[in-house]
Amino acid sequence: MQLVGNPASPFVRKVRVMLLETGQEDEVEMITAATSPTNPAPEAVAANPIKKIPALIRPEGCTLYDSRVITRYLDARADAGLYKETRVWEVLTLEATADGLMDAAVLMVYEGRVRPENMQYEGWIDAQWGKVEGALDALESRWMSHLRGPLDAGQIAVGCALGYLDFRHGERNWRKGRGALDDWFAAFSQRESMVATQPAG
Ligand code: BEZ
Repeated sequence: MQLVGNPASPFVRKVRVMLLETGQEDEVEMITAATSPTNPAPEAVAANPIKKIPALIRPEGCTLYDSRVITRYLDARADAGLYKETRVWEVLTLEATADGLMDAAVLMVYEGRVRPENMQYEGWIDAQWGKVEGALDALESRWMSHLRGPLDAGQIAVGCALGYLDFRHGERNWRKGRGALDDWFAAFSQRESMVATQPAG
């Protein structure tokens, strides 16, 4: 299989962490795509009609996208139990919370990177950060006991989302007033899969 992606993307990191946690990393070749919404990489265009990463090209069967589809597929393929049937709705909702956080955080980066400076809209950036804070507050107030439980795909998504905040939005200090989440992330980010996929650059 081939994974079209970019190591800086938190959505791609989610897939890479899932590969490592389920022992499938050697079965996937990474195709690095330098892509953006206004200038999508040819590899992303070829793999996904929405032109987004990650996409998982499979020798048999259709190419899979988006990250939630891919992580669910990889879990089923390895029979890893990271979307446990007994609490699948909680796991999916937690993953959706983390994905929404990542979406808003990535859009903020693109606003600065892609849109000409005189067209950047502070109110729009603030609204994206408001979504990030909403997700962080929900994690801190409602999800800590789930996060402290056995590993699942929701936790992986949250770990990658918080890692992305440190990577691209460190100056906003997401930890302030969120001590439980901070402690959880300090431990979670020590996992081998998280250390091996730390974004740089
Ligand atoms: C980033 O550089 O932050 C980034 C790159 C690709 C996808 C998403 C984010």
